Amino acid sequence: MAQLLVTGGAGFIGSNFVHHVINHTDHHVTVLDKLTYSGNRASLSELPESRVNFVRGDIVDAALVDRLTASADAVVHYAAESHNDNSLRNPHPFLQTNLVGTFALLEAARKHDTRFHHISTDEVYGDLALEDPCRFTESTPYNPSSPYSSTKAGSDLLVRAWTRSFGVAATISNCSNNYGPFQHIEKFIPRQITNVLRGIRPKLYGSGHNVRDWIHVDDHSSAVLAILEKGRIGETYLIGADGEKDNKTVVELILTLMGQPADAYDRVADRAGHDLRYAIDSTKLRSELGWQPEYRDFAQGLAATIEWYRHHEDWWSAGKDATEALYALLGQ
Ligand code: NAD
Ligand code: TYD
Repeated sequence: MAQLLVTGGAGFIGSNFVHHVINHTDHHVTVLDKLTYSGNRASLSELPESRVNFVRGDIVDAALVDRLTASADAVVHYAAESHNDNSLRNPHPFLQTNLVGTFALLEAARKHDTRFHHISTDEVYGDLALEDPCRFTESTPYNPSSPYSSTKAGSDLLVRAWTRSFGVAATISNCSNNYGPFQHIEKFIPRQITNVLRGIRPKLYGSGHNVRDWIHVDDHSSAVLAILEKGRIGETYLIGADGEKDNKTVVELILTLMGQPADAYDRVADRAGHDLRYAIDSTKLRSELGWQPEYRDFAQGLAATIEWYRHHEDWWSAGKDATEALYALLGQ
């Protein structure tokens, strides 16, 4: 049994990871989360209090981070400002949380000699052409496009530097786009599902030809646990499940699964600097650590996600109007 400190554990992927840890291990978890607009305490409400301890706080608060890291066997660092569109509106919190917050955690891990796993994104690599036969690997050069992805890239580089210069026992994972329960409704898939549930037409940015490489969030969690348990210190692992789909296909599939005509969506203003395509080659993770995704049928995983949002309106409905009002300001 180990004591894990999970930052951002009330967010989408962090809360799914905490559920995964409680269901598949005997570890205890302390969640450190600021509960920004994207954090939700209710995402952890069904978990046993005997194994999950919640601390509301900011990862930029070095004294708090130091105290919590001192009593942890490992830190799993999910906390971030995570939405590209928000980073275009106001980059400031992205620099604070993603860079200064990661710095505070690394300093604590260095002081207490604590195992550290850093959660990152494939967006640090920039984008690929649609017809490019290559996918991202661990040796693809960094080339981020947005304030979000550039601050995530910066945080990855901090982790690498603290490993090399100070011997912090760290690993990094860069994952592709996640879908599943507990995702904030500002993001593409839950935005469209909750739009249909509210009688609003889904909104597709630009041409809709942009490709994302979808992975079910529970597969992300199992990969992170495998890296935490068996990953080589100082290494980076890419996490992906061969799920490339263009956005138009995804919107049409959501509409069809929800009993609507496949073309009942609106085309809206494109995102500035919109990355064209992400695609992950996860050979290293699969061959070194023996990891495999469980969710191989995207339509089935999406149908289950739609059902989750249909049955958890209490979890998402309070923020729906405000989220759509922000998008409306930008014509999206
Ligand atoms: P999210 O926005 O749903 O959750 C982020 C969580 O971090 C929230 O609970 C929020 O309250 C918390 N947080 C934000 N700032 C904080 C601070 N200063 N101190 C403490 N807590 C703070 O994001 P997500 O989609 O779950 O992403 C989690 C991580 O996974 C991020 O690091 C992100 O870069 C990475 N990632 C996301 C995806 C994806 O598809 N969403 C893909 C790959 C990697
Ligand atoms: P998003 O969920 O914001 O993730 P990311 O920017 O990290 O890939 O968006 C996924 C894709 O969907 C991206 O190409 C932008 C597009 N998109 C839409 O077409 N409509 C929307 O309403 C949103 C939020 C995103």
